[in-house]
Amino acid sequence: MFGRYKSKPDPITLEDPAKVELTLEPEVIHKARPKGLDEKTPEQLEAEAKELKRQERLMNIRMDIHKRLLETLNLSAIDTAAEADLRREIGAITREGVHEMGVVLSAVEQKQLLQDLMDEVTGLGPIEVLLRDETVNDILINGPFQVFVERFGKLELTKIRFKDERHLLRIIDKIVSAVGRRVDESHPYVDARLEDGSRFNAMVPPCAVDGALVSIRKFSKEKLSIEELIEFGAFNEAMATYLQAAVATRLNIVVSGGTGSGKTTTLNALSGFIGARERIVTIEDTAELQLQQIHVGRMESRPPNVEGKGEVSQRDLLRNALRMRPDRIIVGETRGDEVIDMLQAMNTGHDGSMTTIHANSARDSVARMENMISMSGIEMPLKAMRGQIASAVNLIVQVSRLTDGSRRMVSITEITGMEGEIVSMQEIFKFQRDYIDDEGKIHGHFTPTGLRSAFAERFKQWGYELPMTLFTEKTVYSTADEA
Ligand SMILES: Nc1ncnc2c1ncn2[C@@H]1O[C@H](COP(=O)(O)OP(=O)(O)OP(=O)(O)O)[C@@H](O)[C@H]1O
Ligand SMILES: [Mg+2]
Repeated sequence: MFGRYKSKPDPITLEDPAKVELTLEPEVIHKARPKGLDEKTPEQLEAEAKELKRQERLMNIRMDIHKRLLETLNLSAIDTAAEADLRREIGAITREGVHEMGVVLSAVEQKQLLQDLMDEVTGLGPIEVLLRDETVNDILINGPFQVFVERFGKLELTKIRFKDERHLLRIIDKIVSAVGRRVDESHPYVDARLEDGSRFNAMVPPCAVDGALVSIRKFSKEKLSIEELIEFGAFNEAMATYLQAAVATRLNIVVSGGTGSGKTTTLNALSGFIGARERIVTIEDTAELQLQQIHVGRMESRPPNVEGKGEVSQRDLLRNALRMRPDRIIVGETRGDEVIDMLQAMNTGHDGSMTTIHANSARDSVARMENMISMSGIEMPLKAMRGQIASAVNLIVQVSRLTDGSRRMVSITEITGMEGEIVSMQEIFKFQRDYIDDEGKIHGHFTPTGLRSAFAERFKQWGYELPMTLFTEKTVYSTADEA
């Protein structure tokens, strides 16, 4: 399937260089107003207020009936009851409740009420609908009345609300108690994984000042493939060809990027280039990676339990992984002292290993690694530290979520060794911004920098003969500008 990149990459087509000199001043970027923040007309505001009232009324009815449900339903049977039976029973109690309360509901409202109650009883209440919605990537809750979602790279405020703080806390409790954790004033934050694999974090008062904060990174069943990422403009075919050679010839790769920039997605896609016969071991805090190979040993770290015991850190897992005879080690995200073992593994025969790091540029990710080494308490002169990093890591792939919400591979940088005390690196590909349109959308293109890969010889020896044009075609900047 990926052979396409190996044998004969499509010719790279780049924009006319004359068109791309335009670089943007920061002011222009700031002027591009995000959509949805425009002023609203009085009519719109009134309509919104009305809708809010309607929702509030429905919410109150819902809470009342929910209370009845809890009193009437056999709670222990909920988990085992068939959905149809449950729906029927809840329907009956709901109709009775609505009747007794003397409220009149439209057919649409009735249907919504029933669904909401089902969600409340069997699922996670108001956010259940967001969990079902496949276009939603992230769910971010700031207290009971503000529920944001991220869709197609854009953050939007939803109409969804919890009745009050207690309602929100009840849902949080439902989630964390299901995984045997607890969250309360004495331990106000918790990480968990939802049943569907989504990543969940909650911070409750008093540390959360204006009400509980919840962040959910939805688990996407279908991780984006190399093809899809190219289609979405995350990088281009030339870069994919290069990356395929890099992974196949076992370079050690660090994917660097900010929060939610697509690090895990990129790592996952890159892993697709690993041969089917290799033994891969993955280490993560929350198992997110979905490797296509058969021979994958997945491991997940464990936080300490309520008594503060039983912690298994990524570092523990990594040390153990070295005894599991892996061909490659993939660490979902390096964020602490496991960096030392990671570098050591990369340096001692587990080449072809990969990880992600939270950093804003290739240079910055080296600094981050230095930082993590220092924080772990190991005393090492800076030069030795950098030497370790330079000899362990071959490639840094920088991903970024741009201001318009699009996610791009903004740079592919090779680490070539040390020059004095400095880690020397060279950028091979980058994303060049051209202009921002009126909608705030960033237009740009990918371009090789014109530098020859330091690994060209290695690629060749492994049978990945990349055409020279891959690194030179339509270079926008002269290499002198880069130095
Ligand atoms: N190129 C892309 N185009 C569109 N969506 C993308 C792209 N890359 C990633 N995404 C989506 O963005 C979301 C965040 O991606 P991902 O989890 O890979 O980011 P991350 O950098 O690992 O985040 P975190 O810092 O939270 O670990 C996911 O829902 C993913 O499907
Ligand atoms: Mg991630």
